[in-house]
Amino acid sequence: MGNGASTVSVHSVAAEEDLLEIARPDYFIRDAKIVPSEIATAQSQWKLIEENQSQVFFDAQTNNSLGTFSFPIDNCMCWFYGLLLEHLFQHLPTAQETFASTNLNSQGRAFARVIGMAVKSLDDEAAFKHLLEKLAWRHCELGVSSNEFSVMGDGIFCALKKVLGESIYNEESDMLWKKIYSAMLQVIIPIFIRFEQYGESPPQDGPSLPMHSSTAAKEIAKAVGTSAVTSKKKGAAGENHNQTAFTADHINDVYSPGY
Ligand code: HEM
Repeated sequence: MGNGASTVSVHSVAAEEDLLEIARPDYFIRDAKIVPSEIATAQSQWKLIEENQSQVFFDAQTNNSLGTFSFPIDNCMCWFYGLLLEHLFQHLPTAQETFASTNLNSQGRAFARVIGMAVKSLDDEAAFKHLLEKLAWRHCELGVSSNEFSVMGDGIFCALKKVLGESIYNEESDMLWKKIYSAMLQVIIPIFIRFEQYGESPPQDGPSLPMHSSTAAKEIAKAVGTSAVTSKKKGAAGENHNQTAFTADHINDVYSPGY
């Protein structure tokens, strides 16, 4: 009996590993180690976007070369998620339909908000995992696929390159963000496999999941908008931003019903 159980378990681990291998995008970096200096680099690059300080954005604004979007591009963050959505719609035609009745400006901010939270929790493994598990289970419920998350990664790299400019988003940065997004996918993809292949449901006793996504999305958007404006007013010092102070409580706030 003991032998039987162990055979089943070994077999399913192997099958899961195969499924993981298939689901991983080309840019995926397996078991990426992100060292503290790299975390600091990624956080400072993200801060340039969040605090509206990328010179490339101001140059593009002056030259009228930001591009055409369905919402106003008022700051670096808007430009970032505008480009991200543009990439998603170009490379994932079904996304047009998925977001047909969604306010894209709010949705884009919600994306950016959570990407920012992931970057800020890179030095807190438990918080990082907790955030991404919630994100993954929520998106399983929404009917999103892990392949769509892979496309999103490419969109994030392209948008970062454009908004930060190639002098900041150089080859080294590209590798770093690929490592970061791979670390995100390392949590996300196995959950999709558990959901799609093994019919598992979101944990009942785990983190509470929002039942009214549009409310959550609006509130997340509001939080990001406020943060960007406050930072701009406060100038380059950005003294109200602690880049590494994200805790499980912040994550629970974003993902609590009625937030
Ligand atoms: C890093 C990747 C992603 C992040 C950070 C992210 C983040 C979010 C957040 C914060 C919300 C709002 C909260 C909620 O409803 O629970 C949301 C909603 C949603 N996301 Fe994502 N998402 C990602 C990838 C994707 C992808 C790849 C798709 C599909 C192409 C997708 C489709 C949706 C949909 C359909 C909603 C609900 C929109 C609505 O309420 O109208 N997401 N996402």
